[in-house]
Order: sequence, then C-alpha cells, then structure tokens
Amino acid sequence: MDNFIFQNPVKLIMGRGMISRLSEEIPADKRVMITFGGGSVKKNGVYDQVKEALKNHFTVEFWGIEPNPSIETLRKAIALGKEEKVDYLLAVGGGSVIDGTKLISAGLLYDGDAWDLVLAGRPVTHTVPLATVLTLPATGSEMNSGAVISRHETKEKYPFYSNYPLFSILDPEVTFTLPPHQVACGIADTFVHVMEQYMTTPGQSRVMDRWAEGILQTLMEIAPKIRENQHDYQLMSDFMLSATMALNGFIAMGVSQDWATHMIGHELTALHGLTHGHTLVIVFPGTLRVLRKAKGDKILQYGERVLGITSGSRDERIDEAIRRTEEFFRSLGLTTRLSEEGIGMETIDEIERRFNERGVRYGENEDVTGAVAKEILKSSL
Ligand code: NZQ
Ligand code: ZN
Repeated sequence: MDNFIFQNPVKLIMGRGMISRLSEEIPADKRVMITFGGGSVKKNGVYDQVKEALKNHFTVEFWGIEPNPSIETLRKAIALGKEEKVDYLLAVGGGSVIDGTKLISAGLLYDGDAWDLVLAGRPVTHTVPLATVLTLPATGSEMNSGAVISRHETKEKYPFYSNYPLFSILDPEVTFTLPPHQVACGIADTFVHVMEQYMTTPGQSRVMDRWAEGILQTLMEIAPKIRENQHDYQLMSDFMLSATMALNGFIAMGVSQDWATHMIGHELTALHGLTHGHTLVIVFPGTLRVLRKAKGDKILQYGERVLGITSGSRDERIDEAIRRTEEFFRSLGLTTRLSEEGIGMETIDEIERRFNERGVRYGENEDVTGAVAKEILKSSL
C-alpha cells in the first residue's frame, strides 16, 4: 500500500424528504444562487421542494446548465452571480449541474476568464461555498472535488478540480423520473469508476479490493432489477449510494489508478456528444483487451471473485471475464461498439492525433499513449 492522506469533508444527507433540511443547512444570511439543468426538476417536484425549503432565504436562479456543462454557459452564470453578489451556491441536478457549479464557485472569485482555470490544470481552492441536491446517481461529483468542463467552440473536454461541496442531499425518490438511458449510463459510469481504481495490479490493498468488488457485485445484482422496477426505493437507494461510494476517495486509498478509459471517453463525448457513461462501456472492454497482459492478474481476480469464473486456462478465464463484462454493459441496454454509433477510423485517428499533440500518457503504468488509445478504440470498432 502506498502512503496517502485521506480527507473527505462532505456531509451526506440521505433519504426521503431530506431536501427540506436545506433550510437548516444553509445559513439564513447567505445570498444563494441556485443552479439547474434543463428543467427536469420542475416536472418531478424537486424544484418545489427546494423553493419551499429556502422560502426565507435570498435566492437567485440560474437555469440551463446542459449535459457536459460548457464554459460558454458557465460564463453567463458567473456574470449573474457577480452581479447579484452571491456568496453561496446550491447545485440542483446531475453531475453536469454540480460540475458546472464547481467552476462557477471558482469563477466568482476570479477576475479573468474561467476557462483559464480549467486549462491551468491546478486545483482551485479559493471558491464560494457550494452544496448540492443530487438528482442523478453516476458521477460521484456530490462527494468529490472534481468536475469535467467542455468547450463547444473547440470540441474540448477537460477535468477541473476545486473544493468539495459542503453537503449533499441524496433523496432516492428523485431518481424515479430518470429516463432509462440515464439510469443505464449512471450504472455504467459507477461501474467504470470502480474499475478505474481497481483494475490495475493485485496485492496493493486487500481492503480496497474487497470494497471495490463489493460495489461491482452490488451493481450487477441491482441492475436487472432496476430495469424491471425503477420505482423501488431500496434498489434506487443502493444505486445512489454505490455511485457516491465509487468516486469519493473511499476505494482509492493507497492504490494505483488508471483513468485511461475516461480520458478516451471524454474525447468521444467532445467529438460526438455521446453520453458520458455510454462512452465508457464502448472503451472499457477495449482497454481490457489491449492491456490484458499488464492487467491480466487483476482480470483473473475480478473474474473469480466478482463473476465466479474458476475454470479454464489463464487465457480462457481472461477472455471470459472480458466477454462477461461487455455482456453486462449490453444488458443495461447500451451499445458497446463504435460502429453501432456510426463512429469509425476518422475519429480514432483524431483522438490519436490529439493525445500525441498533448504528449499525454494515461493509465497506472503511464503507457496509454496516442498509439495505444488507437489500438483500444480499434478493438472496440
Ligand atoms: O438538465 P435536466 O433537465 O435536469 O435533465 C438531466 C439531463 O438531461 C437529466 N436528469 C437528471 N436528473 C433527472 C433527470 N431527468 C429526470 N429525472 C431526474 N431525476 O439527465 C440528463 C443528464 O444529466 P447529467 O447531469 O448530464 O448526467 P450525469 O450526472 O451523468 O453527469 C455527466 C457529466 O459529469 C461528468 C461527465 O463527464 C459529464 O460531463 N463527470 C463528472 C465526474 C466528477 N465530477 O467527478 C466524474 C465522471 O467520470 C464524469 O466524467
Ligand atoms: Zn465517469
């Protein structure tokens, strides 16, 4: 196990009716800007619950943070927040609204263009306090300090790091209205978050491995049941908590991490607008196929402990684990091949070109270069 420092300051407030706690959690003298997406919260009652809880607070609303939040939209939110002199932010939505609001929280205290903060690549710690009401389990953004910001003009999408939310409210009932495609992408995103921190080399930490495997098993158990009944409170609670636990640092202590699949996936979103979780189920099986030598021992461990694969030669067991992983993704109702989405060599070449130009090397062994990314994508055609 490597040395590490762990601190996650987010207060989690989970359960039915918990949105009403906003009135106690946010100090009464704050000037609050509430940020929203495209309007789903008006249809499912979340907006009414938030407004009722904050009826005695000063609030200003910013609407229209889109999936894969763009700098173009966030600049407008920062301008409004500065004009209204807001000193507290409440993000109400999925990962996109929360991520976008993290950049707003930094941008409000920055005089230049907020895109500078994204490009600088350094965590920004001078921020306006931020809290969240989560409506889509997937990204873990409600309990981490990361965000991913897009720039439409140039079709770019990059990670950005700032402060953690002060608190996040998770009411599983708000997920009942999610479109099935978003549920599938949320389960996929959660699954691959675990894999990015687990599917490296074995023997680094028994406890991290078992936690990760526990989340993977939970997702495989609940996914088919959720497809049958998305209104089951207990199932959606486990989904919501799995998503939060998958990317809040709890399974990353003292172990190496990969993230190559995510970085390739971000390019597919930037270039083609594919939903984040969907990009991952296309790329991840390819990552396993191409890096099966380096990751072989861990694939075997995953195959045995999570999928119950105990017979066959080493190669057969690895093949079977990769096959079953892709099959699980397809069982969510997602396509897993680039060709099924009409994406071909032109995009693959462009991603290779971008990685080479940026000189990046991703993965736990820093061996996923432009050329390796190309191999991964070719194996997912
Ligand atoms: O905009 P509205 O109208 O609210 O509709 C949203 C949106 O269209 C809808 N939705 C959300 N909650 C709903 C709902 N519809 C009905 N009922 C509800 N309860 O769902 C659509 C997608 O929302 P979005 O926020 O885009 O999804 P998600 O939470 O998957 O976030 C994706 C973004 O997060 C980034 C991704 O790259 C992407 O930009 N990520 C952030 C991470 C982080 N901060 O740590 C890590 C992840 O790996 C990921 O990269
Ligand atoms: Zn993700």
